Amino acid sequence: MMVFSGGFVIVVIVMLSLIGKCINGENGEEYEGVGGGAPMVKMEQEALYSAIQGFVGEWWNGSDLYPDPCGWTPIQGVSCDVFDGLWYVTELNIGSIDDNSLACAPRVEFRPHLFRLNHLKSLAFFSCFVAPVPIPSGNWGAFSGSLESLEFRSNHGLIGNIPPDFGRLQKLQSLVLIENGLLGGLPDDIGNLTRLKRLVLSGNGFAGEIGDSYGHLSELLILDLSRNSLCGSLPLTFGGLTSLLKLDLSENQLEGKIPSEIGNLKNLTLMDLSKNKISGG
Ligand SMILES: *[C@@H]1O[C@H](CO)[C@@H](O)[C@H](O)[C@H]1NC(C)=O
Ligand SMILES: *[C@@H]1O[C@H](CO)[C@@H](O)[C@H](O)[C@H]1NC(C)=O
Ligand SMILES: *[C@@H]1O[C@H](CO)[C@@H](O)[C@H](O)[C@H]1NC(C)=O
Repeated sequence: MMVFSGGFVIVVIVMLSLIGKCINGENGEEYEGVGGGAPMVKMEQEALYSAIQGFVGEWWNGSDLYPDPCGWTPIQGVSCDVFDGLWYVTELNIGSIDDNSLACAPRVEFRPHLFRLNHLKSLAFFSCFVAPVPIPSGNWGAFSGSLESLEFRSNHGLIGNIPPDFGRLQKLQSLVLIENGLLGGLPDDIGNLTRLKRLVLSGNGFAGEIGDSYGHLSELLILDLSRNSLCGSLPLTFGGLTSLLKLDLSENQLEGKIPSEIGNLKNLTLMDLSKNKISGG
């Protein structure tokens, strides 16, 4: 009997240590939501609240409204997944996507907390930025191991250049920057994103030439740089875009001849070079 009760005590101690609201894990991090909720590293949960608050406004109190954001109080536009028994944010959609989504404040800020959500696979902003804000630069490497899709759509207040460190998003398969107020040249670093399948940069104020590096995106299916102010001729390296299905460079100031290398693109089904100064190849 002594052996039995000794074993029982150990079981009770183990159970008590699992029930606590905040316990310390093997790596010393605090967990939230243990006991009914979806367990999350506290830093992840606080980073989520603060990142969202930066976009939707100070009035939005995440810990009050959504105490268990990956469990029984889901936030519209946020998806989570389990890694090693803990929940992390994998998808974040900000802006007026539908009626009850996270609408943005008149003045938004990118808080550094956003870049602590380093399990994010998909990040999207729709009709969010009204007052002028540039895309921050220097932090995007934090998402290099996770982010597969990045989208900024119809954000007229989103200004400035594409940060060169977008080029560190090695897992990115889709980069969509449609109808924002972005300017400047297209950074060569985008050519490092060799997993890209979709690159859509239409309807901004991008200028300058298209770099040779863009021809290294051999998995690209869709390349749409239409409705910008790009100039110069098409890079000869475009013959390397062997997977391409759709090429839209319309409404720019591109010139010269269509390079014969474009003929290598056997799967190309749509090519629009209209409203440029390009002559037939
Ligand atoms: C949210 O509300 C809680 C309690 O109501 C408060 O302690 C906390 O400081 C608030 N957080 C923010 C970011 O306003
Ligand atoms: C992209 O690749 C070039 C050449 O390898 C390298 O110099 C550059 O630092 C890379 N850019 C990024 C953002 O990783
Ligand atoms: C072209 O399309 C065919 C049929 O969908 C596919 O099997 C092939 O891999 C594609 N070629 C390239 C280079 O992507």
